Amino acid sequence: MFYYLMYGIQLIWYGHACFEIRASLNVLIDPFFRGNPKTNVLPEDVEPHVILVTHGHYDHLGDTIEIAQRTGCKVIAVHELAHYLRSQNVMAEGMNIGGRMKVNDISVIMTDANHSSSVSHAGLSLYAGRAAGFILQVNGCSIYHAGDTGLFSDMQLIGDVYRPDIALLPIGGRYTMDPEDAARAVALIRPKIVIPMHYSTFDVIVQDPLDFMKKVVSSCETNVLIMNAGDVLDL
Ligand code: NI
Ligand code: MN
Repeated sequence: MFYYLMYGIQLIWYGHACFEIRASLNVLIDPFFRGNPKTNVLPEDVEPHVILVTHGHYDHLGDTIEIAQRTGCKVIAVHELAHYLRSQNVMAEGMNIGGRMKVNDISVIMTDANHSSSVSHAGLSLYAGRAAGFILQVNGCSIYHAGDTGLFSDMQLIGDVYRPDIALLPIGGRYTMDPEDAARAVALIRPKIVIPMHYSTFDVIVQDPLDFMKKVVSSCETNVLIMNAGDVLDL
């Protein structure tokens, strides 16, 4: 399949929920490098201008603190998680569900996600606010990163209001939607393209993305794009 979108954006997948969007700024989402078996990229190899963190779990917060301290980049997260990050000498800005922030010409909207959030600190699990997803509006392209989430009916509202061209949806099951529920999510969101994520990183979330593809193809018009970790997609 050839996707002729021409937004002048590059989308890179580092495996799991970690994506980089290169446009006027490099935006890194859920930068999980160390301990991510799907990538050899290290936290010192990336140069983001801004990092978006969907929630505090280690496989999403990942190497945020190290990268932000080295590069001085801005981190955007839900209010409570941003507060924690500032305590770690990171330049973090908080927002909350339904809110919008502009970073240069990129609009970032925080969406709901049906999940929990906490931060591991000194052997304790600290409350880190709500788990979230993000809509990014870049060069006229609308990209929905769902974060970790179960299926919820307001995905239809997200589809209606933000009309995502690309949806990045978890399909790994156990902690998030599995392929079956993720296919139901696609039918609610109706993006042009869906890219499955958050699967087969670990034994407990092994899934066949072709399973997901078959279910989507039989239920709606959305194209399924299965990326390999490290792939660079020109949009
Ligand atoms: Ni999580
Ligand atoms: Mn996760």
